[in-house]
Amino acid sequence: MLVVGASGNIGGSVARALIHAGIPVRAAGTDPAAVARALPGAQSVHLDLLDPTTFAPALQGADGLFLVRPPAIAKVGPTLNALLDAAARAQVGHVVFSSVTGADTNRVVPHHRVETHLAGSSLSWTILRPGFFAQNLADAYRTDIVRDDRIILPSGQGRAAFIDVRDIGDVAALVFADPVTHRGAGYTLTGPQALDFEQVAALLSDELGRRIRYEPTTALRYLRHVHSQGRPWVQAVVQTVLHTGLRRGQAERVDPTLERLLGRSGRTLTQYVHDNRDLWATAS
Ligand SMILES: NC(=O)c1ccc[n+]([C@@H]2O[C@H](COP(=O)([O-])OP(=O)(O)OC[C@H]3O[C@@H](n4cnc5c(N)ncnc54)[C@H](OP(=O)(O)O)[C@@H]3O)[C@@H](O)[C@H]2O)c1
Repeated sequence: MLVVGASGNIGGSVARALIHAGIPVRAAGTDPAAVARALPGAQSVHLDLLDPTTFAPALQGADGLFLVRPPAIAKVGPTLNALLDAAARAQVGHVVFSSVTGADTNRVVPHHRVETHLAGSSLSWTILRPGFFAQNLADAYRTDIVRDDRIILPSGQGRAAFIDVRDIGDVAALVFADPVTHRGAGYTLTGPQALDFEQVAALLSDELGRRIRYEPTTALRYLRHVHSQGRPWVQAVVQTVLHTGLRRGQAERVDPTLERLLGRSGRTLTQYVHDNRDLWATAS
């Protein structure tokens, strides 16, 4: 099974879930040595979505492909869609594409173009559409939590049904174990509970043993804040738009699909924070 983005949040979780299920993994990345260090149980392979010459060698003999869009890639035609074309030529048995909630109808997000391309291909496929990641606490919000004991966001009292990407990995492993059952399906995946950021801050405070506060801010101030942390303007804008959208309830719906597929409830945000508490430890 070829796993794209294997050193990242989703790809890493998928690779670990497949290894756990006894399915051989070829873990792809632009730096195969780094991938090999992150996933000792997998074979690592060089694949750069910006370099089509790497596609055929990485796909050779793969019976499945897990695909995710790296956040920095907006042009999906010559990258993700070209890889899907190469997968069709290589007669890969099944593709799982991890998209984003709402991408089936939202034409603005790049994932929509990948979904459309996949659906129009000769490939057998399943699309996962996850909502807001619990792992954002370790990516986008981590510096603010560690350095200033705060979460600063333009999200007002908006709530998010945080999904732990480990559950996305478990769903992908389930699909690859029985692709025929899941062929042509699109699954919206969320966590089991919608929380606002006052609740997230309280939960972090309880687990970390120090007070973390939520500081609601305006979209403009947040945009400048994110950019000042070193993110390019394009990513800062995307992050601002996503978090402002939470005010309108864009990510608060709890979907039952994950529980139905896995036969258990999704991991809670409390569980995620508990399992990863060292990520937010202060330097002292
Ligand atoms: N954050 C959320 O709440 C959320 C919710 C729903 C959906 N999503 C979607 O999830 C996706 C992000 O997933 P993630 O969090 O797993 O990302 P991530 O942790 O940033 O990982 C991205 C992966 O892509 C790899 N990559 C980067 N450039 C590459 C290239 N040119 N060729 C091949 N691989 C490359 C990276 O590894 P190397 O650079 O080492 O190769 C890394 O393994 C986005 O499409 C986002 O829209 C996010």
